[in-house]
Amino acid sequence: MAEEIIMRIAKPQDADYLRKLVNETIDTCYFHIYSQEAVDYFKDYHNRTNIVNDILEGHCLILTSGKEFIGTGTLLGSSARRVFVKPAYQNMGFGKKIMHGLEEKAMENGVRIMDLDASLVAYSFYRALGYETQAEYVIPVKNGQNLRYYKMIKKLEDK
Ligand SMILES: CC(C)(COP(=O)(O)OP(=O)(O)OC[C@H]1O[C@@H](n2cnc3c(N)ncnc32)[C@H](O)[C@@H]1OP(=O)(O)O)[C@@H](O)C(=O)NCCC(=O)NCCS
Repeated sequence: MAEEIIMRIAKPQDADYLRKLVNETIDTCYFHIYSQEAVDYFKDYHNRTNIVNDILEGHCLILTSGKEFIGTGTLLGSSARRVFVKPAYQNMGFGKKIMHGLEEKAMENGVRIMDLDASLVAYSFYRALGYETQAEYVIPVKNGQNLRYYKMIKKLEDK
């Protein structure tokens, strides 16, 4: 029988499992779009310390199927961060479910405009959810390579 998918708030002791989920997703989904140097930058950015801090200071959601971590996303202030769905579970509506959870919490907190940094990989996903491009940024990474991403925003509407 298929395991039930559950969404819950992350605890600090989930950090290692979350990091594994994020690193595996980056390795699988980013290599054909970003350079290895950019991939390494992303993985370093999502280090254990940053994950633990975000769990403690933000609203960090996890989707689980049994013991398996299949998705995550965090709200920090008005920003959605670290939204990842494990490759085998992508395109099944889980990313949307996580984003709706974060938007709902943001509304509860009085946030009216959500913002996020979208990788080239996730850009079309956020467009599909109603986010608009505000700016494009380029970060220089090692060996003269660049990492390109977009700042996106969405006006939250009362339901
Ligand atoms: C981007 C990501 C979070 C999307 O999660 P997902 O569970 O695959 O997305 P969903 O199935 O919930 O898709 C929701 C909607 O976005 C659309 N969508 C999802 N990925 C898309 C893509 N790459 N291109 C175009 N549309 C896309 C879907 O068609 C769907 O539209 P619908 O509601 O009209 O049917 C996930 O694919 C992922 O983790 N990717 C790699 C990591 C990443 O880039 N994370 C973001 C860090 S900024």
